[in-house]
Amino acid sequence: MVQKTKPRPLKIKSGKLYSLNGRSRAGKTIKAMQLINALPRCLIWDVDEQYEAHYRAYTLKELTALLARNFGREVHIAYTSKIKGRKELTEDFNGFCRRGVAYVQRHGYAEMKTSLVFEETARVTSSGYAPPFYVELLSGCLKYGCDLIAITQRLAESDKTSIGNASIVHVCALRLPIDRKSVADATGVPLKLISSLVADQDNSRFEYITVDGNKNAYQRGQLTFKNDKPVFTDNGGWVPI
Ligand SMILES: Nc1ncnc2c1ncn2[C@@H]1O[C@H](COP(=O)(O)OP(=O)(O)OP(=O)(O)O)[C@@H](O)[C@H]1O
Ligand SMILES: [Mg+2]
Repeated sequence: MVQKTKPRPLKIKSGKLYSLNGRSRAGKTIKAMQLINALPRCLIWDVDEQYEAHYRAYTLKELTALLARNFGREVHIAYTSKIKGRKELTEDFNGFCRRGVAYVQRHGYAEMKTSLVFEETARVTSSGYAPPFYVELLSGCLKYGCDLIAITQRLAESDKTSIGNASIVHVCALRLPIDRKSVADATGVPLKLISSLVADQDNSRFEYITVDGNKNAYQRGQLTFKNDKPVFTDNGGWVPI
């Protein structure tokens, strides 16, 4: 009789996928920073070099070396690609995601949590295309105990896999009607409510809506600052979708 092969055991709790949406200067990156602050290991697609990190790579070769040297260590690693040109940057992003897949899988089998941040997916995906290793991360890697944070100003111009699979959708003020509609269609939150969100630079007050895909409900909240530190205040009161 032919023996069945045993599946490779994976004993880690699944991670969450966060989709962060909003126009420029609306509070997305600050939200991402708050989320990863509490996470031990993080790999960041940091195109604009905004994140604090223990290590930073500027080429995929450097990134490969950093990932190999830091396996298991509780460090945040940022990658800032210097490549110009949409097509070339998208290929580079796919290379980043390929290393991301290996990073989350190796740690997942070793029962170590990981996380990844993707800044501005509209630069490296479109409504009709997402690089294959990015899709693999979004659709097949949460089971390795990895939290994923996908950020975009322009949902209408971005791949929708992230918002489609998201456990949590964070919606900040959006400027363009097409992006507001795109977020409303993807989440089920009333368009009127999404359009009412305010990003008030003068008073440093940034409204948001949090959509919880498991609860199938949303609540409102606002980001303010106290002593230069961001404060997120959820208004409470989940509204079913
Ligand atoms: N210490 C602070 N006090 C007051 N406002 C602040 C402070 N730090 C940041 N802000 C404001 O918070 C807002 C949100 O910033 P954030 O970087 O999260 O925007 P974003 O949505 O990521 O924008 P972009 O898409 O351009 O990257 C900005 O308007 C910024 O001016
Ligand atoms: Mg930002």
